Amino acid sequence: MTEAKQEHLYKILVIGELGTGKTSIIKRYVHQFFTPHYRATIGVDFALKVLNWDQNTLVRLQLWDIAGQERFGNMTRVYYKEAVGAFVVFDLTRLSTFEAVTKWKADLDSKVLLSNGKPIPAVLLANKCDLGSEEFDKGTAQQLDTYCKEKGFLGWHKTSAKENIGIDDSAKCLVSEILSNN
Ligand code: GTP
Ligand code: MG
Repeated sequence: MTEAKQEHLYKILVIGELGTGKTSIIKRYVHQFFTPHYRATIGVDFALKVLNWDQNTLVRLQLWDIAGQERFGNMTRVYYKEAVGAFVVFDLTRLSTFEAVTKWKADLDSKVLLSNGKPIPAVLLANKCDLGSEEFDKGTAQQLDTYCKEKGFLGWHKTSAKENIGIDDSAKCLVSEILSNN
């Protein structure tokens, strides 16, 4: 007899400052597509990614692509509701977008929690790594490790939506944590 396949639907948030590449990461991950043209997201967009996790497990990720400008709005509480995981994205060529990560993470943790009262698992994405990451030396990597521990991130990944680097790996990292919580 074959075992019944387990199916999961998970709501995942993608947050971070304007123009850091949230929409581009999702487009790459879901549609294998990249465009250099920037069109700011208004409010929120959605995408669905289906993962054949293993022989017995199907995972559907409902990705909520939150506009960077929403950090200044009142809607994030509504958008974050019932999310079970998050990606927080910064642009590694713009320090100000990294500085804002702390604010995004605090906003997240203040507005949504797992049913057990813990913060939802979050992964930090250092995006646009195709744009020369000389400043991203060993020291920086260690600082980011420490930062993630302090702020309660599962970890961080260098990503590029343009070159398709690190996106699948970071999603695997987040999903395996979510599966272990459920
Ligand atoms: P908002 O919707 O305003 O919050 O922005 P966003 O975070 O969704 O950014 P978006 O994905 O629209 O990308 C902004 C700009 O950065 C676009 O011109 C993208 O083409 C570019 N971009 C995104 N990811 C990458 C990347 O990995 N490498 C490079 N070189 N450019 C990228
Ligand atoms: Mg966008």
